[in-house]
Amino acid sequence: MPVETIDTVEELRAQIAAWRKAGDKIALVPTMGALHAGHLMLVEAAQAKAERVVVSIFVNPSQFGPNEDFSRYPRRQEEDLAALEKLGVPLVFAPSVAEMYPQGFATTIGVDGPALGLETDFRPNFFRGVATVVAKLLIAALPDFATFGEKDYQQMQVVRRMVADLAIPTTILPVATMREPDGLALSSRNLYLGAEERQTAPLLYRVLTETASALRAGMAPAETLQAANARLSEAGFRVDYVALCDAESLERLQELPEAPARLLAAAWLGTTRLIDNIAV
Ligand code: PAF
Repeated sequence: MPVETIDTVEELRAQIAAWRKAGDKIALVPTMGALHAGHLMLVEAAQAKAERVVVSIFVNPSQFGPNEDFSRYPRRQEEDLAALEKLGVPLVFAPSVAEMYPQGFATTIGVDGPALGLETDFRPNFFRGVATVVAKLLIAALPDFATFGEKDYQQMQVVRRMVADLAIPTTILPVATMREPDGLALSSRNLYLGAEERQTAPLLYRVLTETASALRAGMAPAETLQAANARLSEAGFRVDYVALCDAESLERLQELPEAPARLLAAAWLGTTRLIDNIAV
């Protein structure tokens, strides 16, 4: 069956209402397109939970800073639709910017808690943009489930917090990060990496895994994180952060706690910014 593409909230609501009437559960997979195998895992996780899966494809301008890659962000709708059709996805919601941000748009979602620090230190408006568009998508579709990748761990925690705080009746399903055989986390932005940068990129994950092992072995967090930062810098990364945080609140930790912790990093290779994280 060909995948149906719609571009208005009205059409989305009508389709979902029909599915609900038939007693089906609905899952939403929010994406910005340029789909890779990691996105397809989000779709499969959604399909495992719900009879009907909607994938949204929308490169959301409000989550990009003025000097970020909004205009060069990869857009590949034809390939995306072909991949989704293969997986049997029945519906893609691909709205225009005007549909999501109509003339006079003046309402945004402010997020604190897990949104503070880390990405926000470098991309101050990022989570306001993400939270606003995700809230709009969830309110439009009111799905039973929505899948989010652990690759964007802080984003996932911000969305979970927002959904709880606003009592949005959707269960957020986390999906593990998918990696290349050399460990590099799949990301649409990997397309920007030059050949040499692509060779260096897997070091980010290697350093995270070795740092997590060192922390588990009892090494002091401050020195261990500093050593991780130095190793990445020596290899040619420009490091934004390597941080040890509480896995839920994302508050920075000085000691390895009993409670689950997460090691998160963001670093540049040339003009490409990579992020990754692992459980400690
Ligand atoms: O992770 C992404 O692709 C985006 O941040 C999201 C969740 C689709 C919101 O635009």
